[in-house]
Amino acid sequence: MSAFTKVLLLGFLLHSDQCDKFKATLPQNIKALQGSCVTIPCSFLIEKTHKENLNSKCKAVWKDINDNTLLDPKQETGDLTQKNCTTTFHEISPQHNQKYFFRLDCNNALQFTFKESGVIIQVKAAPPILKLTPPTVSVSEGESVSVQCSAPVPCLSLPPTLTWSPVLGHIQETLQEQQDKTYVKVSTLTFTASHLHHKNNITCSAVYSHAVQASVHMTSFVTYRPTNTRVTVSPSGPVTEHTNVSLTCSSDANPAVQHYHWYKADGGTHTLMGNSAVLHMKASRETTVIYCEAENELGTENSTVTHLEIHYPPRNTTVSLPAGPVTEHSHIMLNCSSDANPSVFYWYKADGGTHTQIGNSSVLNMKASRETVIFCEAQNHLGTDRSGVIKLDVQFPPQIVSLSSKCSGDSAQISCVCETEGNPFPLIHWSFPGVSPNTSISSEPLSDNALRSVLTVIKPQWRDSVTLVCHSTNSLGSDTHSFDVPVFEQETISKGDTMTVVFISLRVVSLLVFPCAFLVMIRSVNRHHNHRHHHHRATDMVVMEQLPVSNEMQTANSDEDFENAEN
Ligand SMILES: *[C@@H]1O[C@H](CO)[C@@H](O)[C@H](O)[C@H]1NC(C)=O
Ligand SMILES: *[C@@H]1O[C@H](CO)[C@@H](O)[C@H](O)[C@H]1NC(C)=O
Ligand SMILES: *[C@@H]1O[C@H](CO)[C@@H](O)[C@H](O)[C@H]1NC(C)=O
Ligand SMILES: *[C@@H]1O[C@H](CO)[C@@H](O)[C@H](O)[C@H]1NC(C)=O
Ligand SMILES: *[C@@H]1O[C@H](CO)[C@@H](O)[C@H](O)[C@H]1NC(C)=O
Ligand SMILES: *[C@@H]1O[C@H](CO)[C@@H](O)[C@H](O)[C@H]1NC(C)=O
Ligand SMILES: *[C@@H]1O[C@H](CO)[C@@H](O)[C@H](O)[C@H]1NC(C)=O
Ligand SMILES: *[C@@H]1O[C@H](CO)[C@@H](O)[C@H](O)[C@H]1NC(C)=O
Repeated sequence: MSAFTKVLLLGFLLHSDQCDKFKATLPQNIKALQGSCVTIPCSFLIEKTHKENLNSKCKAVWKDINDNTLLDPKQETGDLTQKNCTTTFHEISPQHNQKYFFRLDCNNALQFTFKESGVIIQVKAAPPILKLTPPTVSVSEGESVSVQCSAPVPCLSLPPTLTWSPVLGHIQETLQEQQDKTYVKVSTLTFTASHLHHKNNITCSAVYSHAVQASVHMTSFVTYRPTNTRVTVSPSGPVTEHTNVSLTCSSDANPAVQHYHWYKADGGTHTLMGNSAVLHMKASRETTVIYCEAENELGTENSTVTHLEIHYPPRNTTVSLPAGPVTEHSHIMLNCSSDANPSVFYWYKADGGTHTQIGNSSVLNMKASRETVIFCEAQNHLGTDRSGVIKLDVQFPPQIVSLSSKCSGDSAQISCVCETEGNPFPLIHWSFPGVSPNTSISSEPLSDNALRSVLTVIKPQWRDSVTLVCHSTNSLGSDTHSFDVPVFEQETISKGDTMTVVFISLRVVSLLVFPCAFLVMIRSVNRHHNHRHHHHRATDMVVMEQLPVSNEMQTANSDEDFENAEN
């Protein structure tokens, strides 16, 4: 039991016994801050006989050991009539560093110095020591933590200002009376522990008068499950397919992460790939979406997904064409695609051996032309790949090539050649205003879109010059070409002179063959109507009839492919 407690206990006993002795209760010593003020808690008892003398005129005087009075014009004293001798002195200086006794001076018979109990004022230049309770924090994340900072209050009228750094949560301040009646200011900081508070330096500071500052700090320890889980990729940035790449999973955790798991999330499924902090793998375009999971005894956390950008050279470069044939001169759009990352695209026109660049993006807008032979090329820093050469199915109405279309021959035989181009594949019809008994037509395809038809007249027997007409037709239109064939005099055939054939009795012969020709014509008309559905042999197609107009012969190729192309 401390001396002070004994005094208190004694005071209590005396008081309860209605003991009428002079007794002052005050701390044995009190710390004061130099330049500041100090409050001496004090209470007293007096003899009963002096009860009437204790009045408002009484004064509190403080004497040192040499009976000198502590003089302070701003001295504040409690209500003496309530036996409260608590006194505050200002501007404490080192000379106040001594023992003082309370003297009650009521300007009457009641004048008493309480020599039994004095207080030693300990004047300090340094601020008082602050106390943190508890001295350290060791909690799990999520728990509520309360830390108290206690600062002595030497002077009640100038209590210190307490601040926390950082301000982690809610702060509550109280003034607490100690057993020795002095006060401490208590600031309680309450917060919910988070991983962010781990190893925090929590500081409590007290500012006393004259900006004298005291502080105390501690470090908090918080255990928490993995947080801030993240993936770093080496090398960073895009990686070339099939090269080595390392992924590192890191996470903040206390205690440290115990297990790592790697998952790939391509295609919606999550596949385990590894169980160590660092994942070594070969870059693959099948593995681009990756995340890791970190685990300690308190829990797990997944990183956000990391998207690997995999670079690979162009392959499978293809051109997507409009569905079906296109009409010449119409606007068309072609797309080039390639398995490539990254990719830039170029388009080339293939003109024989030379290639002319005609575009530099994946989409090519152009006018359809029958000569269009193009390809596209995908490029990146890893390589180049070309599509196949593309020939568009460009449709155009028939055109007869006049340069190649002509007649030649003599009185024995005349051959007229009609060459035409068209897509869909054209049909050739011949017409002329007379008929020869010996006429044959043969046709041969020159290319996918070109046809040559040869009309041969054996021993032409017309009297006037005639006009043979070649008609080329397809679903988009038609073209015609007229051949003016002169009369060849049979008797005056001269070698080297083409077209010198005399025909004499064409009409007679025509009349002779007319019934036959008429039948053939009817067949021909039927075929003409059905020519899209039937296969005809060129040799079946000879048509002769006498009508001045509409003498027609159809010709088509016997080749199956041509027939298909026509349809
Ligand atoms: C005594 O007086 C002081 C100063 O006026 C005051 O702060 C304190 O509360 C009083 N004590 C009691 C017990 O009334
Ligand atoms: C904590 O803060 C105090 C006051 O700011 C400083 O003196 C001390 O060095 C700090 N301690 C650590 C571990 O940072
Ligand atoms: C890639 O990794 C494999 C094994 O993981 C190793 O053998 C090889 O040397 C590495 N290649 C390079 C270029 O580092
Ligand atoms: C992390 O990912 C794994 C695998 O997909 C999954 O099983 C687990 O639930 C995830 N954890 C969290 C915390 O989301
Ligand atoms: C090209 O495409 C084909 C068919 O889609 C595929 O089988 C092949 O693997 C592809 N080649 C490359 C290199 O991507
Ligand atoms: C080409 O791509 C565009 C969009 O990029 C699309 O609208 C168009 O239909 C594609 N054309 C072909 C022929 O694939
Ligand atoms: C692509 O072609 C356009 C027009 O032909 C041209 O203006 C542009 O500069 C070209 N861009 C590149 C990247 O070659
Ligand atoms: C038709 O020509 C053939 C041979 O080219 C000949 O044998 C035949 O007599 C001719 N017919 C007529 C009616 O002139």
